[in-house]
Amino acid sequence: MLCYLGSRCRQVVGTSLAASYLRQRPSPPPSLILNLVNYVKHKTHGGLDQAVDVGCGSGQITRALAPNFRTVLGLDVSQAQLDIAQSVPNPANVSYCLLKGEDPYPVEDESVALVTSCMAAHWFDMPKFFTQVDRVLVKGGVLALIGYHIPQPQWPGKTQVLKDIMYDFYWNKIGQHFGRTARDEIDLEYRTPKYAWPSAHEILRESAHHTDVVMSLASLGDYVTTMSGYTGYRHHYGDEAAQTIKNDLLRRLLTALEVPSSAEDTMLPMRFHYFASYASKQP
Ligand SMILES: C[S@@+](CC[C@H](N)C(=O)[O-])C[C@H]1O[C@@H](n2cnc3c(N)ncnc32)[C@H](O)[C@@H]1O
Repeated sequence: MLCYLGSRCRQVVGTSLAASYLRQRPSPPPSLILNLVNYVKHKTHGGLDQAVDVGCGSGQITRALAPNFRTVLGLDVSQAQLDIAQSVPNPANVSYCLLKGEDPYPVEDESVALVTSCMAAHWFDMPKFFTQVDRVLVKGGVLALIGYHIPQPQWPGKTQVLKDIMYDFYWNKIGQHFGRTARDEIDLEYRTPKYAWPSAHEILRESAHHTDVVMSLASLGDYVTTMSGYTGYRHHYGDEAAQTIKNDLLRRLLTALEVPSSAEDTMLPMRFHYFASYASKQP
């Protein structure tokens, strides 16, 4: 089901970028989802009725929550992201809805056991977001702010040198081009006052989970294009310059790997380290 709120669509992510999101963005580690669901169960005394995923993008977290809740609603301000989220098989209890900025979420007061947001909160107007979270969560309901760091290549004997190349690209090439303070806030795992939910009764933090993905170097190049710092670099210096820094990254990784093949043929295990904070509302 896809529902629409209001008449104006604020498209944050365009169609081709949304398709790259679906292909390259990782799914959350099952262990993280399990811990989160158990925490919600504990805090709401078993009530796993409705979950809402704000800034759902192509639906990675939205779908992962589906087996544990009666319904899961994914909300996003980008129609392109929602179209892509809908283009793959979704469990029957998952639906999506277009938001206009910080509009009220299309759910009843005190009807939601869990609000999640993965790699999206740094785009929100947090006071307005917290107002919605306060309104929709049931007593004891949980707000989970989730994110992950730049993926780290894993290769026996070469992990450090490959990681250094990734971080050089992240810090020195696209680092200044992330919107506002987004990069710092993710690097700090949202541990700044801006992300402190005033109504939090209890807060737990986790950073022990990861998702391993084997991707071709070409796919890693595609992943890089979904980073807002890369988009910012492209807007600043143009398509050709952006293509050049991406190709340069892939060439450096290939050289370090010392494999005689192309970016398309070279498969690289990548690890996405996740972080999360779970905050529960007053019981
Ligand atoms: C980096 S993507 C993350 C997508 C997905 N949650 C994931 O884990 O891959 C951030 C998403 O937040 C959405 N977004 C940005 N501002 C928003 C807002 N104010 N309310 C809801 N969604 C927003 C964007 O359209 C985008 O789809």
